[in-house]
Amino acid sequence: MTTERVATVVGDLVNRINDAIAKHEVTYDEYRAAVNYLIRVGEAGEWPLFTDVFFEHTVEQLNQGEGGTIMGPYYVPDAPWLERPYVLPMREDEKGDPLILSGTVRSTSGDPIPGAVLDMWQADADTNYSNIQQEPPPFNLRGKMTTDENGEFEVRTIVPPYYHLPRGGPMEELLKAAGWHDFRPGHLHFIVSADGYTPLTTQLYFEGDRYLDSDVASAVKPELILTLREHDSPEEMDARGMTKPFFTTSHEFRLKPAG
Ligand code: DHB
Ligand code: FE
Repeated sequence: MTTERVATVVGDLVNRINDAIAKHEVTYDEYRAAVNYLIRVGEAGEWPLFTDVFFEHTVEQLNQGEGGTIMGPYYVPDAPWLERPYVLPMREDEKGDPLILSGTVRSTSGDPIPGAVLDMWQADADTNYSNIQQEPPPFNLRGKMTTDENGEFEVRTIVPPYYHLPRGGPMEELLKAAGWHDFRPGHLHFIVSADGYTPLTTQLYFEGDRYLDSDVASAVKPELILTLREHDSPEEMDARGMTKPFFTTSHEFRLKPAG
């Protein structure tokens, strides 16, 4: 970043914070509480959470636009490469309704992209991310896969129920103090990439989720909301080798040519 860019953006930010302080006649007690709060956000390691909840959506809109959304704080590189038929790594008794997600990766002009990489991650049914929270084993519900010669993929996982941010730290404290809830709709995360295309960071959501219209992270877009189809007949379960009712849905990811 150039000196001019830093001075312009940081200068504007500082001016706007000073304007808000003046407008609301912030007291010394409030100022000291705010400083102490910011220190505790750092001590708790919650800066990635804090900044992604409040600000990533704006950066994302400017830089990705349609079909994309925020990455959030819980991406971990080096998730395992999966083998077909794709199943996200999960515990034997993983909680949640089974979900089969299928789809296609295409260029923005509509051509299917064979060999595109989907790097996928999600929380478990108790809203815990592996490699972040203690509970799930490493790389639980995280994996990488590729599209076939038709640009298509299919992966089995669980339907992610609606989600709350990690609790017990400064983030929860602030949301409670402001009377705001800490929920996001249930979601699946993806980074989709292919040679010659700009990688797409996005999430998929599900129709009917109670938090679609009030995501604490402001990261829902209409084109990312999928409809789940339930399959509960013995024939359907047999055909898929499933031992309990399951859901299916599909999505088309669109990648922009690089450059
Ligand atoms: C945020 C985003 C997520 O996807 C998530 O699971 C938790 C937090 C965020 O924007 O901070
Ligand atoms: Fe998430």
